[in-house]
Amino acid sequence: MIALGCDHAGLPLMRRIKALLERMGLPYEDFGTYTEESCDYPVYAQRAALAVAEGRCERGILCCGTGIGISIAANKVKGIRCAACSDAYSAKMSRVHNDANMLALGARVLGDAKAEMIAEIWLTTDFKGSYHQPRVEMIAAIERGEILPGVRD
Ligand code: RB5
Repeated sequence: MIALGCDHAGLPLMRRIKALLERMGLPYEDFGTYTEESCDYPVYAQRAALAVAEGRCERGILCCGTGIGISIAANKVKGIRCAACSDAYSAKMSRVHNDANMLALGARVLGDAKAEMIAEIWLTTDFKGSYHQPRVEMIAAIERGEILPGVRD
């Protein structure tokens, strides 16, 4: 299940992402917003991010104007690794190296076709694990308030 969240600026792109998910046969849960009325992106970031962090959804896609505000908000939820991506390489690497569990897209900076390509690549790419696994675990340690080995040296 893919968790979806957007604000008013991201809504037109989110409609395209929903159509893409339908074509790919991937189920989603839409946490809003549902109208063009101006709204606060942190609300929708937190709704979708909690669904991922709590295991109700495997991964999530967020859209706002730039992809930045909604990714910053999502990354405040423990367990979320949200990558704001504007190119296919970053989207792929955010999965392969960082095991990003959320993708943020900027509706005002990306054309529809490019955004859809980024989302499709992100959705179909697996985490490599291996030597990247401990690095992802270090991110979780920072989240728990731990100081990583070597930081205070
Ligand atoms: C909304 O106007 C805009 O600020 C928002 O969509 C996003 O770009 C924030 O980062």
